[in-house]
Amino acid sequence: MILEDRTINSFNNTINKLHTEANQPVLEIWGRQQLSGEIKVSGAKNSALAILAGTLLCGEQCRLSNLPNLVDIGRMSQILSALGLKLHRNGDILDIDATHITTSQAPYEIVSRLRASFFVLGPLLARLGVAKVPLPGGCAIGARPVAIHIKGLQALGADVFIEHGVVHANVKGRNGRLKGTKIYLDYPSVGATETILMAATLAEGETIIENAACEPEVVDLANFCKSMGAKIRGAGTNTIIISGVERLHSTDYPIIPDRIEAGTFLVAGAITRSEISVFPVIPEHLTPVIAKLEEIGCQIIAEDTRRLRIVPKELKGVDIETLPYPGFPTDMQAQFTALLTTCEGNSIVTETVFENRLHHVAELQRMGANIKLKGHNAIIKGVHQLSGAPITGSDLRASAAMVLAGLAADGKTLVYGLEHLDRGYENIEEKLRGLGAKIRRLDSLSQELHLVGV
Ligand code: UD1
Repeated sequence: MILEDRTINSFNNTINKLHTEANQPVLEIWGRQQLSGEIKVSGAKNSALAILAGTLLCGEQCRLSNLPNLVDIGRMSQILSALGLKLHRNGDILDIDATHITTSQAPYEIVSRLRASFFVLGPLLARLGVAKVPLPGGCAIGARPVAIHIKGLQALGADVFIEHGVVHANVKGRNGRLKGTKIYLDYPSVGATETILMAATLAEGETIIENAACEPEVVDLANFCKSMGAKIRGAGTNTIIISGVERLHSTDYPIIPDRIEAGTFLVAGAITRSEISVFPVIPEHLTPVIAKLEEIGCQIIAEDTRRLRIVPKELKGVDIETLPYPGFPTDMQAQFTALLTTCEGNSIVTETVFENRLHHVAELQRMGANIKLKGHNAIIKGVHQLSGAPITGSDLRASAAMVLAGLAADGKTLVYGLEHLDRGYENIEEKLRGLGAKIRRLDSLSQELHLVGV
């Protein structure tokens, strides 16, 4: 039989695609293992990203400890190096010499791969009176606009315009110094609150941020700035008051534990119906997560001030709506959606923070979950047992939900999309193996494909 060129090309494309997919690293999970023991929580990714940008405010040396070892942290460090800072990492400690900033322009190649790199805009502008940062662009969970950040900086007296995809900001007069004012945020955006807070630390006079985000990571950033001599009151409430100072000094600052990683591990206990302990945590940061786990039917025991134990009982469905802190965190929505697919009865999960954050639903359906999508709602009817399948995490927390579902599922689950998972979970497979999970990372599946003759 003579095959047309077109047919041969299409066949070759399919084989190439298979090989590309097969060359991706993948997590192999054998589910339904009982977990036990204690799991360690790393430093908070979202705090660390903002605080790393905040080191630009300091004209001296800073030391950060409890810094998680994550791809996103590596990318933010690269941006700081590109801006002229000198960094030296040893384990979870990072020494940063922020004495000299050599350029006011953040490099597109790195900014485009890390949305949080937009955080450098506020501190660069505050320190130098000028900054150029490429727009961060959208991502899988939504458009991720930055209008509130920009409005805030304009209110502080900066000229801001966007040209060729780059945000240009500069302060005319006043020796390039921003000027404090009252700023009302249209939405309590975490990133915008952090950008304005950092910029205002070195501004002339007082800045009041109203309708500010109250997330613990905002408080951690404020505490970091205070440790360098910034004058900030009200962080953690919706009104933050910053009295600008002329310069900030050196500091040695430990990052708080990651409440989202801790919450993900608590859900690992719940979804496998296992008793495990999670350490270190700041329990009040987990209040909405603990409340929902208790409502589902888990007992949460504070073993000491920084250690929580989860004891799952009979688990039943609940309704969840994501909201800004202290509401239920959008960053825990995917993990709870996975858990609720295994709980008796009905649940409705409503995502209100990001417009496009329910991609994991389709993957959970492939594992036998009974979920219907209606707009921003996932309507779930618990099933007796999920079944292992090849699945792909489309964003960071969706990937975590895939791992959790795999831990509960019957048979083998292969989780793809690890580039997302590695942005936010340090050594996740090693940590879960420590609890008795059967999970391993395969660099690629190509070898298996060769074995079957493709
Ligand atoms: C941060 C967290 C992210 C978390 C989110 C909400 C970091 C690095 N990331 O993201 O993990 O899911 O908070 O808790 O800290 N918005 C606008 N205009 C703006 C800014 C935001 O409309 O100028 C909207 C966003 O599109 C979104 C909502 O506000 O719908 C919340 O976004 P925001 O709080 O800014 O989240 P991030 O800071 O991007």
